[in-house]
Amino acid sequence: MELLTGRAAFRAACDAARGRGVTVGLVPTMGALHAGHRSLLARARGECEFVAISIFVNPLQFGEAADLAAYPRDLQADLGVAEADGAGVVFAPAVEEMYASGEPEVTVDPGPLGSVLEGASRPGHFRGVLTVVAKLLHLAGPCRAYFGEKDAQQLELVRRMVRDLDLPAEIVACPTVRDADGLALSSRNALLGAEERRAGLALSRGLSAAAALLGAGEPRAALLRGAIEARVRAEPLAALDYAAVVDDATWTGVEEVLRPARALVAARVGAAGTRLIDNVRLDPPAVPRAAERAE
Ligand code: PAF
Repeated sequence: MELLTGRAAFRAACDAARGRGVTVGLVPTMGALHAGHRSLLARARGECEFVAISIFVNPLQFGEAADLAAYPRDLQADLGVAEADGAGVVFAPAVEEMYASGEPEVTVDPGPLGSVLEGASRPGHFRGVLTVVAKLLHLAGPCRAYFGEKDAQQLELVRRMVRDLDLPAEIVACPTVRDADGLALSSRNALLGAEERRAGLALSRGLSAAAALLGAGEPRAALLRGAIEARVRAEPLAALDYAAVVDDATWTGVEEVLRPARALVAARVGAAGTRLIDNVRLDPPAVPRAAERAE
């Protein structure tokens, strides 16, 4: 495995792989690698002969300086994970390498979906995410790029950017990985104490409650949302940011879940206010066929 810190060297490694006729797989990360990232690497390994992982804590997507400073970093441990999981290249540039002329003047406008939900709580976040993802995709060149469904709004915005700007990447969505008790894996979980981690379970519990309600025949989005809010509000260490139910294709709010939708939740947990997000797809129960209805 090669550790590269320069943009030119990273581009050359990806070009060389394509020159050998192999498919390039890119797994963009901010490090603090966990089983969720490992599932992206495993999928990439299964589909691409050459796998590159980028590790870059992108200052452009953090609003609060304290949040950026607190973000967990452990490059040595990450290199061990990347090597064990068969990455061919780790691209781990310094901030000055990625933003050589300082904060960029030209950035990617995420459009209307960039300013709702996560975007409303974290102004400028998705502009920063899309700008760095665009840079990484340009450096990697034509590739398959792997993103987790845990960051569902990010995934949707990356898909829209690739579509609207004709970037030569195929975006591959990978399912959220959860601990046995349901907590969605996130690098931020490392910032939680035991009690806070337990409180964080309110998010997945709320989402499961909403899915169960829908499964039992309740399609009204307000009630599904209410089920999520109630679970989070019942947890003294958690402060709800938002709960929402949106159409899974258009990402606009829905009154009733009659087509595939997505339930989303965000909350701050514990004294340090660690921000956790989670989501699940909501599939309306299948309409019974006429013969079954008659029985
Ligand atoms: O999901 C992340 O870790 C980051 O937002 C990403 C996609 C690597 C961009 O910095």
